Amino acid sequence: MTAPTQEETQVKEKSQISLTGIKPTGTPHLGNYLGAIKPALGLVENYKAFYFIADYHGLTTIRDKQEMKQHTYEVAATWLALGLDPNEVVFYRQSDIPEVFELTWVLSCFAGKGWLNRAHAYKSMADANSESGRDTDDGVNMGLYNYPVLMAADIILFNTNVVPVGQDQRQHLEMARDIANAFNYVYGDTLVPPDALILEDVATIPGLDGRKMSKSYGNTVELFAAPKQLRKQVMQIVTNSQTPEEPKNPDENNIFNIYKHFATPEQIAENRKKYTQGGVGYGDLKQELFELLDVTFSAPRERYNELMANKKEIDAILERGAATARPIARKTLGKVRRKIGID
Ligand code: ADP
Ligand code: TRP
Repeated sequence: MTAPTQEETQVKEKSQISLTGIKPTGTPHLGNYLGAIKPALGLVENYKAFYFIADYHGLTTIRDKQEMKQHTYEVAATWLALGLDPNEVVFYRQSDIPEVFELTWVLSCFAGKGWLNRAHAYKSMADANSESGRDTDDGVNMGLYNYPVLMAADIILFNTNVVPVGQDQRQHLEMARDIANAFNYVYGDTLVPPDALILEDVATIPGLDGRKMSKSYGNTVELFAAPKQLRKQVMQIVTNSQTPEEPKNPDENNIFNIYKHFATPEQIAENRKKYTQGGVGYGDLKQELFELLDVTFSAPRERYNELMANKKEIDAILERGAATARPIARKTLGKVRRKIGID
């Protein structure tokens, strides 16, 4: 047998599918980039990629139409500015694929209610309610409750094999697998159970206050903030009260734990020394991080600003993506409908 040519290998490898989504609930930040966007873009060469804006997931919390529109454009422009090539990646808005919502209903009939009771977003709200003596479900809408089923539909509709995400999404991916398997148990091998792809060193990027960086905690460093704003955010990183002279542990330091993801190995070694030897204050270390982030993102920031000033270009790209995605979506949904006898 002759070895496959490079082209044949490409085609073979591209039979695997990578898919991920980001919801438009705030301005994209370093955690989104390191945990999801960068790993996802790294897969494009070897996987057929489907990346999208999970706008209907955003509706569980965003209730202002201007905000919804603005954040949708921000998320789209972020992906594009960071190098997503819409000729390589099927790039679309979830809401442009109505098949997602039909599949959501089908899958909800295979998702145990008990599983959803344990989903972390719902559970943390329910626990907080119980602790403060309110009804368990106070303020919980069914969108929040069904969130993992909609996410399973996003994934399963495109026969996804791998889903690059941060650690906080692990449970959702386990549910998507369980739901696909529950369907397959009844109807035979039909749906592809997906795998999460969570890279250990970027699984949970710390925010300004040391908790997970998240739009919902307001502790983010935005990817494309103007330099002045970026500097302001970096200067807000919480540190302990050690003096400049004291030696410090870089591994327990929020500044270093962001710095290390953007610096070269030489810069990291040099920076590490500044902590361990002492003699450098947090203000200087923050300034160094700011300068590194500023140069790292200066070219993409320009592209981002260009795109944000030309939203029609973004609209056209997303429409094209939806047009490519829909026939694939229809095919999976058709297969599901035939299996259940509704066709
Ligand atoms: P947020 O928590 O800010 O609302 P999203 O839920 O929209 O972010 O997350 C979009 C993607 O970015 C997901 O794959 C998520 O796991 C990843 N992500 C978000 N925050 C972080 C973080 N601090 N570290 C690593 N990955 C993250
Ligand atoms: N739930 C994800 C988040 O909060 C966003 C999302 C929606 C998603 N659908 C998806 C991620 C499908 C991966 C695959 O970040």
